[in-house]
Amino acid sequence: MTEAVLLVGGRGTRLRPLTVNTPKPMVPAAGVPFLAHQLARLKEAGVDHVVLATSYLAEVFEPYFGDGTALGMRLTYITEDEPLGTGGAIRSAADALESGPSDPVLVLNGDILTGLDIADLVRRHRAAGAAVTLHLTRVEDPRAFGLVPTDATGRVLAFTEKPTGPDEIVTDQVNAGCYVFRRDVIDAIPAGRAVSVERETFPGLLADGAHLLGVVDRTYWLDLGRPDAFVQASADLVRGVVPSSALPGTPGEYLVLPGARVAEGAKLGGGTVVGAGAEVAADAVVEGSVLLAGARVAEGAWIGRSLLGAGARIGPRTVVDGAVVGDGAVVGAGNELRGGVRVWCDTRLPDVSVRFSSDC
Ligand code: GTP
Repeated sequence: MTEAVLLVGGRGTRLRPLTVNTPKPMVPAAGVPFLAHQLARLKEAGVDHVVLATSYLAEVFEPYFGDGTALGMRLTYITEDEPLGTGGAIRSAADALESGPSDPVLVLNGDILTGLDIADLVRRHRAAGAAVTLHLTRVEDPRAFGLVPTDATGRVLAFTEKPTGPDEIVTDQVNAGCYVFRRDVIDAIPAGRAVSVERETFPGLLADGAHLLGVVDRTYWLDLGRPDAFVQASADLVRGVVPSSALPGTPGEYLVLPGARVAEGAKLGGGTVVGAGAEVAADAVVEGSVLLAGARVAEGAWIGRSLLGAGARIGPRTVVDGAVVGDGAVVGAGNELRGGVRVWCDTRLPDVSVRFSSDC
């Protein structure tokens, strides 16, 4: 059995306003907090103890997941009063680990959806006798990621965080946010201060000549840091593009949770989720979107690749395409929100159809 540390304490600023009231790993994807999908995958990989490294809105995790008995695993919660960064969080979690000094410990970012064979990553780490093994994936545009070139044997040659110029883009292999650490490497991270594992720990280990192994694997991988990626991940989970045993139902073109109401004549598709108590009125179309609990879509509205927060309301004939509407926001009739628009929680946008009819 292997232990794992899940990093779930970040502020999730790129996902605002969804993360104003809910930490990113607790935002529902395909009907359950995203973290539930990650825990299910870890369980399937043979992990029996997970340390959740919390900080931002730390209090919401334990009431939902408890001690893990319902999931068939043990969960331990640790909390940094102030976020200590990825490395600081991993070091804080060390106090709750039970593995021996040379045992492998899995470490995962809490916002990664992947089809990676996690147990195989651990096997390769053991076989290579590496200090740290990193899952690497290939992306078309690596500028927003940490680049990790390797030699023919997989040995890591360098770390370049978020390259700025073309001369720095030496590979399309990027850090996929899933690692296997030898336990004693975690213990050596400085305690009690902010540390970035990507900017400080890994480059430091490399400079000291440690064996860092990169395993390139191109199975499904998505970083849910941005709203469009989050919505995509939810739709892929609903449609079974990436299978998850935490999906509350069977894969299909949409998922309607108990207590939701979808009127006759409404059209759902593309992996849409209609959350508990949410409503979709007649003649509305909802494609590839996430409607959180209690969100309401009025008649004739068109929602595509968007996320509607808890209790958000979309007026008649309004178009919401590639946008995020925060919890409790009200978008009046006839509006058009497109291409990355974010409506803050509890905002009220008036009906435009009413204004046009009197102004024009
Ligand atoms: P952004 O603010 O949008 O960049 O998101 P983020 O705060 O989640 O940061 P990032 O995506 O870089 O973090 C990667 C993973 O590490 C996420 O799962 C975060 O929850 C987690 N994380 C980041 N910083 C900390 C921290 O200081 N403490 C803990 N416990 N986890 C962290």
